[in-house]
Amino acid sequence: MTSGTPPWQAPLASAGGTPSVSRPLNRYKGAALIGDDEKQAVLEVLDSQSLFRYYGPRPLFKVAAFEQGFAAFLGVPHVLGASSGTAALRLGLAGLGIGPGDDVLVPAVTFIASVGAIVASRARPIFVEVDEYMQLDPADLERRLTPRTRAIMPVHLNGICADMGPIMAFARRHGLRVIEDAAQSCGSFYGEQPVGTIGDVGCFSFQLEKNITSGEGGALVTSDDEVFRRAAIYSDQGGQFWTSHAGVRDNYGGQPVIGENLRMNEITGAILGCQVAKLAPILERIERNTGIVRAALDGVEGLTLPPRVPQRDRHALGVLLYAADAEQATALVQALQAEGVPAAKVYGGQPVYAARQILNQWTIAGGCPFHCREAFPEPVRYEMGMCPRTEDLLGRAVGIGVGPFYTEEDLDDIITGVRKVAWHMR
Ligand SMILES: Cc1ncc(COP(=O)(O)O)c(C=O)c1O
Repeated sequence: MTSGTPPWQAPLASAGGTPSVSRPLNRYKGAALIGDDEKQAVLEVLDSQSLFRYYGPRPLFKVAAFEQGFAAFLGVPHVLGASSGTAALRLGLAGLGIGPGDDVLVPAVTFIASVGAIVASRARPIFVEVDEYMQLDPADLERRLTPRTRAIMPVHLNGICADMGPIMAFARRHGLRVIEDAAQSCGSFYGEQPVGTIGDVGCFSFQLEKNITSGEGGALVTSDDEVFRRAAIYSDQGGQFWTSHAGVRDNYGGQPVIGENLRMNEITGAILGCQVAKLAPILERIERNTGIVRAALDGVEGLTLPPRVPQRDRHALGVLLYAADAEQATALVQALQAEGVPAAKVYGGQPVYAARQILNQWTIAGGCPFHCREAFPEPVRYEMGMCPRTEDLLGRAVGIGVGPFYTEEDLDDIITGVRKVAWHMR
């Protein structure tokens, strides 16, 4: 390469050139900030010998403190810690009273846990097309409505927000409840409102990859007293400890039910209490880093990016590009990966219903929701082609991950790598 030639005109790494990104990237978010605060908080719990949230030799009530801190951050009255994000979704559905005989509208692009939670509740997922930001498309809701639809589960994927305004308007018009799966978008804002606080109930995951983390963990948030009470007792064996006040069992919390144990433990609560305090700076860095990459790629010849939607994509955890067709998208991903750019097809380019277990409706024990004529007299069929627009978008979409702790050099090199591939493939 002659001096003065822009770096993106260098030979492609896939053709024997030097990769643009030559060091490992730290893609972690909250995990990257685990340090002395978390260590100290965990040691306090161990010293107290009180690892259970409700009692112990010297209980510190770290889960309760986390719940209060997270509630204050989000500005909601109720937060319930849970053992995972999937548990939080189960609890959200239980809180709303969703079960056999009910259909839940869910986007065709999501992690399988959204679908798993609906099926574990013995309700049926009905798949809805996504928009160009890979979020549930409100324009498709009317067409997917069934006589059994009781709820919508928008999923805020990869830090971007589903378009909650029209989704909420549709839900209210049709008397539907809304459960937000905000597992991947803790702290993202839809306009002025944090996701998870817009629908009837919101669910978060604190698994290792998430904005804040305790390795495993989840939380449900709601402003609805009754949804909270139902979720809380269900998470606690139907009301084992939650219904006890002042050491007296069953003197509070209304009628118990037969439930499960989906509770959060004190070690998890201790870590999350520290992580919540770090969420605002993590979000600032997410906004900054994605903003830098997004701005640098805007208008580059050969790249198609959906227009910015500041109301929804402020805290996006990366940048989405579209190729002309699926074949070109595959070539683009290969060339980007050879450059060391963290690029991939979104969920491998497949809708969630492409999973064999969903297409074939394989559950662990049969019965509701797929083999249960009493609750669902008309069977539902899943097949490829159900959401053609989504399948087309997924085939052509390429996601580039941007982490809050990428360095300036990382960001520069990623931008160079993408520009290089775009220049060679234009
Ligand atoms: C969209 C979505 N929903 C739900 C979950 C489930 O969360 P967990 O792994 O904490 O059960 C995840 C986890 O990755 C997710 O990405």
